[in-house]
Amino acid sequence: MAQYPVNMDLRPKVDAFFDEATNTISYIVQDPTSDACAIVDSVMDIDYAAGRITHDHADRLIDTIRQRGLTLEWIIETHVHADHLSAAPYIQDKLGGKVGIGANIQLVQDTFGKIFNEGTEFQRDGSQFDALFQDGDTYTVGHMQGFAMFTPGHTPACMVHVMGDAAFVGDTLFMPDGGSARADFPGGDAGTLYDSIQKVLSLPDAMRLFMCHDYGPNGRDIQWETTVAEEKANNIHVGGGKTREEFIKFRTERDAQLAMPRLIIPSLQVNMRAGEIPTDQDGNPQLKVPVNKL
Ligand SMILES: [Fe+2]
Repeated sequence: MAQYPVNMDLRPKVDAFFDEATNTISYIVQDPTSDACAIVDSVMDIDYAAGRITHDHADRLIDTIRQRGLTLEWIIETHVHADHLSAAPYIQDKLGGKVGIGANIQLVQDTFGKIFNEGTEFQRDGSQFDALFQDGDTYTVGHMQGFAMFTPGHTPACMVHVMGDAAFVGDTLFMPDGGSARADFPGGDAGTLYDSIQKVLSLPDAMRLFMCHDYGPNGRDIQWETTVAEEKANNIHVGGGKTREEFIKFRTERDAQLAMPRLIIPSLQVNMRAGEIPTDQDGNPQLKVPVNKL
């Protein structure tokens, strides 16, 4: 395992923005010693039935950054999301910043390039992104150093991003009473997800963990922040010392019963292009629906 440059003395300011339509949480992460910030996992709004794209959620992040006079340096995607669209290009157009994702995006582009029958003009080399992170890669947000942890399993390109004492776990973990994300998408693997979760749980106990999703299980209010210690003790899928075999059995049986996410078809087409909407031969934005391919 890579040696990660953990720095628990650095406490970034983290603001969360919950998206009710997709149960996604987007974050603004601010360097405590400068005006620099990063966004993790932005959301673009879609009314899929109407084919209508809007930007209310992203505008909340943009307005906040402008009101505080911050400089946006990074727009990070923890992975290619299958349940919401990224607003990375819209935000970059307004505020700048570099869009980064895990280097294995190339595998995801290759898989879904085939499923969506994309032509040769669709590059499968990750070149739509400004940065492709490898395990342990570091970057800076002002004076604050962040790093990427390779955490495949939910998808083959998932990364957890750690900035100071705050880790953005993407879809490796949910809140302790929510468990873990599914591992049955193409390139996903339950055993690999278990191993990645152990990596996250090997971070310091006091590390703040920020979820990408919360569904308010059992009627509780939406939450998005916990700690490594709480997850280790209480996570219903991996806490309390559950074994890899137990996890694989449970995860595989559960995944077999899950329906496809409502927005998987538009999400994959947009997110594998770093948030750009594909176009038809005349240059008009257009999404496809491949039949019986997922
Ligand atoms: Fe996901």
